[in-house]
Amino acid sequence: MEMLHKPSPSLGLFSRRGFLTSAGATLLHVTLMEHALSRFASAQRLGDYPFTLGVASGDPLPHGIVLWTRLAPDPLAGGGMPTQPVTVEWAIARDARMQRVVQHGAVLAVPELGHAVHVEVEGLQPAHWYWYQFKVGNELSPVGRTRTAPRYGAALDRLRFAFVSCQHYGNGYYPALRRLAEEDLDFAVHLGDYIYESASNGAPRTHIPDHEIFSLEDYRIRYAQYKSDPDLQAVHAAFPWIMTWDDHEVENDYAGFLPQDPADQALFAERRAIAYQVYYEHMPLRRAQVPSGPSLQLYRRVHFGNLALIHVLDTRQYRSARAPANCDLTERVNGYCPDGLDPSRTIEGTAQRQWLLDGLGRSKASWNVLANQVPFAPNDTNADPAIRTFGGEKWDGYPLDRQQGLDFLAVRHLANTVVITGDNHNNWVRDVPPDYLRLDAEPVATEFIGTSVSSGGDRNITTTFGGNENNPHFRFFDNHHGYVRCTLTPELWQADFRTVPTVLTPDAPVSTLASFVVEQGHAGAQEA
Ligand SMILES: [Fe+2]
Repeated sequence: MEMLHKPSPSLGLFSRRGFLTSAGATLLHVTLMEHALSRFASAQRLGDYPFTLGVASGDPLPHGIVLWTRLAPDPLAGGGMPTQPVTVEWAIARDARMQRVVQHGAVLAVPELGHAVHVEVEGLQPAHWYWYQFKVGNELSPVGRTRTAPRYGAALDRLRFAFVSCQHYGNGYYPALRRLAEEDLDFAVHLGDYIYESASNGAPRTHIPDHEIFSLEDYRIRYAQYKSDPDLQAVHAAFPWIMTWDDHEVENDYAGFLPQDPADQALFAERRAIAYQVYYEHMPLRRAQVPSGPSLQLYRRVHFGNLALIHVLDTRQYRSARAPANCDLTERVNGYCPDGLDPSRTIEGTAQRQWLLDGLGRSKASWNVLANQVPFAPNDTNADPAIRTFGGEKWDGYPLDRQQGLDFLAVRHLANTVVITGDNHNNWVRDVPPDYLRLDAEPVATEFIGTSVSSGGDRNITTTFGGNENNPHFRFFDNHHGYVRCTLTPELWQADFRTVPTVLTPDAPVSTLASFVVEQGHAGAQEA
């Protein structure tokens, strides 16, 4: 879609009708009800308020940002849009009232992409806050806030971000996201399980539709339901996001073109294509991430000056089948069933692995960040310290693929590598040993696993500090819900485990349960 860039004088493009000034100071939280009071008066009569899914921004560059929305006047019934393209105006400004507009333009929202809107703004100033808004007819979207990345190589004193994962809508409300939106951050990272494809499987909320989703319309409705949550909208409107996925954006535990249930194999490539398209439709992603059939290039890098280089991984699309885990203990080699040690098995694919090692080798950043889905460091799951058991569908299930990365980190002395991980629904700090045979050896990297936003619901809480005989490289475990806030300086990485006491209300408070630090040049975490 072609977009029109027009420099604009300082007059607020969309503010002439007086809407924004009457909305008060909390523009990020303009309610949908206020919008719903006004109606369309133009030729583009859509019926109802089209910005029900909120706005978002993402993938910051020093001079650019992606702005997102999707028109859906009837979000839970497939969108409710006409079958024609619709023109959407956008503007980006230096102030929350949209008075000092620096650029504006128009794009077409097309039915083929669910009337999603992706604008790649260019020509912005590095490390600046901006505000943005969309307009269709006379209808205005909420105003979102975003921030560009610093100049490439710029010396930065500090960077602050948070990461989240696993926001099962049925399992709970989003107090973690409500509190996250109040944080002072440069950006946030989502590590996957943005939606769940299943039926509700529990309280307090019900999935729409309340069955496993397969069709294009059903995936759109499911995303629209999640996006209708006001706390999810607020956290997207608060700062830019760097998005990646895990399995539930398509189907639980899928691997490449292999579905979890072999009975679903015949239609799985088609299902994956649908799920990838609808993911793209709902995320602030660039044209480089437009899907092509069942493929979507999601692994990419995002630079933050000389302080952090984020290598965004995709460990779902290219992975080989899960190895059989049911072999006899006597067959196991160093804890693995023989098939698990097949060197051709991969979780990232050979192309992505080469891309990752190239990027790590070339990086001049103080911190290399692997924005990763599933747990990376080894986990001996056998309770008997004398017997090891590895496998499963995490990186542990692909040990020789992982080993190429670990060897690279060890040989290059890249101790500044920190893996941030989702999937697990638990907070977990792990030193990353040089291989799965020497869990107590000097670590080569550090892993911070973040708990779920809501997935799993309220549960009995376990919080433990330190490792154990099986897994001496573990530093911390906890199963509250929440998010992980990271503060980076050239010398120190601090991770604050921010937790909420319940997900049965959207308004629970947040507190820091524990903090861990990594010192520059020394892999491994210590309690702060
Ligand atoms: Fe999950």
